[in-house]
Amino acid sequence: MTAVQSKRLPGKVIVVTGAARGQGAEEAAVLAAEGAHVIATDVTEAEGVRRLDVTDNDAWARLAHELRTQHGQVHGLVNNAGITWRARLGDVQVEDFDRVHRVNVTGPLLAMQHLAPLMQPGASIVNVGSSAALTAHYPVAYTSSKWALRGLSRTAALELGPRGIRVNTVHPGYIETEMTASALPEFKEANVRETPLGRTGTAGEVASLVAFLLSDEASFITGAEIPVDGGLTAHGGVKSISDAVRQAGPR
Ligand code: NAI
Repeated sequence: MTAVQSKRLPGKVIVVTGAARGQGAEEAAVLAAEGAHVIATDVTEAEGVRRLDVTDNDAWARLAHELRTQHGQVHGLVNNAGITWRARLGDVQVEDFDRVHRVNVTGPLLAMQHLAPLMQPGASIVNVGSSAALTAHYPVAYTSSKWALRGLSRTAALELGPRGIRVNTVHPGYIETEMTASALPEFKEANVRETPLGRTGTAGEVASLVAFLLSDEASFITGAEIPVDGGLTAHGGVKSISDAVRQAGPR
């Protein structure tokens, strides 16, 4: 007889940003399958997705008001929405730098400011960083915004810990979504070359970690940062040295 697997997020009210496609859409689907009541939000239209620009303070206030009225509380938040901008240090325009930071850093800040007051002990927030937040990735606006998100997450874990609210960050490596589809093929090839598992990742491989961090199974994990990157950032940039020596063979 097979054991019945119980759902990990029964009845939990969880907000996911950037949920119209890519990782956010997959996270919304996985969380719903785990029994959560998911409020999927995005600026891109999609069925069952509520329009919410993460940089819009008033939109967050409206959502918080509705959630308070309808559910009384919020159990989870996934700050997944993010944008990239592939200009390098010498080329990036200040307007683009600011725009990326507004979505990737100010957005999660506003989300936490509006939704944390609706959270009770046991609630969980997951911020979606990037392997760029652990390295010197060349798109400078994106990289600096994701490093800033790390600081925001850790401060939030410190501030909200006494209320029993956990805050963790996941750092995806190269994941197959529309974001990475817009990059050059050379970018993908170089990523696979630098990844010990030798392949790209899927949205589902990030979503399962997000579901775990939102669940009570992760009840003593907060302030943590977990890469989901096939080992990309673990070797600290020296995989090419290992590969070169291996290829040269014994001397
Ligand atoms: P994606 O581009 O496919 O999806 C991002 C979603 O965010 C889109 O639906 C978009 O409409 C939404 N969005 C953009 N600006 C928004 C705003 N102001 N308000 C609300 N929603 C907004 O990208 P993907 O790959 O699914 O990315 C999800 C997260 O994962 C992002 O934070 C990204 O930086 C991060 N990430 C992605 C990696 C990858 O390889 N795909 C690697 C590392 C991190």
